[in-house]
Amino acid sequence: MSDFKGNREHWASRVGFILAAAGSAVGLGNIWRFPYMTGEHGGAAFIVIYLLAVFLLGYPLMVNETLIGRASQRDPVGAFKFLSPGRSWWLVGALGVFTGFVILSYYVVVAGWSIAYIYKVFIAVSTPGINHEAVFKSLITSVWEPIIWAAVFMILTISIISAGVVKGIQRWSLILMPILFIIILILIIRSNTLPGASDGLFYYIKPDFSHVSGRTFLAALSQAFFSLSLGMGVFITYGSYLKDHDEIPGSNGWIITLDTLVALMAGFAIFPAVFALGFKPAAGPGLVFITLPAVFAQMPLGIFFGVLFFILLAIAALTSAISLLEVVTAWLMDEKGWSRKKASILMGIIIFIAGIPAALGYSIFNGFSFPGLGTDILDTYDWFANCLFLPVGGLLAAIFTGYVWGTKQAIDEANKGKTGLAIGKFWSFLIRYIIPLLIFGIIIMGIYDSFKR
Ligand code: PHE
Repeated sequence: MSDFKGNREHWASRVGFILAAAGSAVGLGNIWRFPYMTGEHGGAAFIVIYLLAVFLLGYPLMVNETLIGRASQRDPVGAFKFLSPGRSWWLVGALGVFTGFVILSYYVVVAGWSIAYIYKVFIAVSTPGINHEAVFKSLITSVWEPIIWAAVFMILTISIISAGVVKGIQRWSLILMPILFIIILILIIRSNTLPGASDGLFYYIKPDFSHVSGRTFLAALSQAFFSLSLGMGVFITYGSYLKDHDEIPGSNGWIITLDTLVALMAGFAIFPAVFALGFKPAAGPGLVFITLPAVFAQMPLGIFFGVLFFILLAIAALTSAISLLEVVTAWLMDEKGWSRKKASILMGIIIFIAGIPAALGYSIFNGFSFPGLGTDILDTYDWFANCLFLPVGGLLAAIFTGYVWGTKQAIDEANKGKTGLAIGKFWSFLIRYIIPLLIFGIIIMGIYDSFKR
């Protein structure tokens, strides 16, 4: 295999890498999924378990995947081939590419709803007495609307990816991430200055462990993997665009912190307003599309804040979707020698087509469900990707470094950079023993509990 180091694109700055990777991490997972998962799994008790999953499992695994990418300078499949030639470990990378394909196929559907809501929320909030549930239902049960919006979103994603690592991904992350941060701050201030906001705050930060079961742990683990974009090669791919002496453990620390901060901030923006205006928190996936428009309708300047919120959601989704498409694109470029344009456009179209069943899951394919594995087609894609493929991908990548590539090699790779944190024996201990055991245990326990329900 030829050496890619010569002509491979690299991030133009440390901030470029941090914001691009944080852009991947911060997405629908933080703003759409995290608040309703928190609502469904008992508020702050879920958050405590989630934070443990992020720092104990998420951080070491993010470092691990970034190192595999940087050391190999290759896409996820090529990375394992390079570090362990002639063995079957490349299958772990292939699972990652496949998972990226699956996640992106339904991610564009929900992202499409977000774009549609930039104007739907405008109508919903300005029409007195409108039924907000009916507005959402009419969007998702229509045959063409979800498909058209998903297509619009996919075209945006493809156009960024086809422009390249620096001119596409890095450029747009540097523009969009600060905007996202400002919008969420504005929403937090609005939400917490409503009369009665403190009830929501209380619900959000007071743990109630009576709802905790095996499913809660699996939910927190899969949420952490999804939110941090772990277990499927995003960090291998983005890590492969780092230069030889770029610092890694400190940058990964920044990325984890930003992602967790935005998830927590989304809760601080949503729950106080929900409680202040007399709504229930545990509304499931409809929380941001049904409950929030109703909340905006009762809020002074609600139209403005409603539109702002859905712009936020669409921006967050876009910087994540590009990382999903980049994994698949990088694989075709490195392994099959395709051009960036051809790979991104063709795969974008194929993934979009694969997502059509999820887009039609509430109209033509309504009622299709798999007991224990989600309530509809989109939910089933989500279950397989998040409860199974991501944790298994992260687990195998840890075993690979722990027992095949070697944690000593990995640590040397990590500590090449001059500044920032250094990792050592404790990291190695987590990667070799604690993380594999914990992930394995949680997957088994969670699957058992999901089917027992
Ligand atoms: N992290 C993204 C989010 O929170 C989703 C994602 C998962 C992106 C896996 C890439 C890989 O929305």
